[in-house]
Amino acid sequence: MTFTRSIKIAPSILSADFADFGREIEAIEAQDCDWVHVDVMDGHFVPNLTFGPPLVKAIRRHVTTVMDVHLMIAPVDPYIEAFAEAGADIITAHAEAGPHTHRTLQAIRATGAKAGLALNPGTPASVAEPLLDMVDLICVMTVNPGFGGQKFIDSQIEKIRQLRAMIGDRPVHIEIDGGVTPETAPRVAAAGADVLVAGSAVFKGGSVADPAPYGANIRAIRKAAETATQAAAE
Ligand code: DX5
Ligand code: ZN
Repeated sequence: MTFTRSIKIAPSILSADFADFGREIEAIEAQDCDWVHVDVMDGHFVPNLTFGPPLVKAIRRHVTTVMDVHLMIAPVDPYIEAFAEAGADIITAHAEAGPHTHRTLQAIRATGAKAGLALNPGTPASVAEPLLDMVDLICVMTVNPGFGGQKFIDSQIEKIRQLRAMIGDRPVHIEIDGGVTPETAPRVAAAGADVLVAGSAVFKGGSVADPAPYGANIRAIRKAAETATQAAAE
């Protein structure tokens, strides 16, 4: 994985057919997504349950791009090793998951995976400041984590701007998760985001039998974001 700030689209398989993850992943990759975003929820840190390391390991062999694993679980430390063994390229933990975020990030990097830090909408950008040299990615939650299909929270745009300034030249991605659509993508891209997670906006209208809408949706989000990035650079 070479670092670049170009726009990357990471479909969240939370919006895929849970009985057919292998083919769903193959379909979104064939439709030119950049990363595959995997949402792990524990029914405790967030009010929803998804899946654990065995499923992540089973789908790994279908991923040829980058497997981006978002852990919405607390505690998180006892499970880091298992998700690394399952083949995660990036493991993102929440700043709110426990009192020892620094230790958690160290533990993630010790496995050889890239380390991500996710911030809930109510958590300020300043929480990330002492940790900037320990992370490869900061995930700005633009919904309260737990469910797909929620409305984008506007107040997070300013936080993205603050993080982009704070990061400077460091090779740290800014990922946006929640409510990303062709309408919201330009705003987050202009504020400094480079990885756009999208669940419902990618999977809507398509299926493994008819994957062309996935491609059209991915292209629409990418184009909207890239146009805004270019305009911001001019
Ligand atoms: C929310 C998850 C997201 C979710 C995004 O808790 O972390 O990755 O799937 O879904 P959309 O794009 O539908 O808001
Ligand atoms: Zn996510």
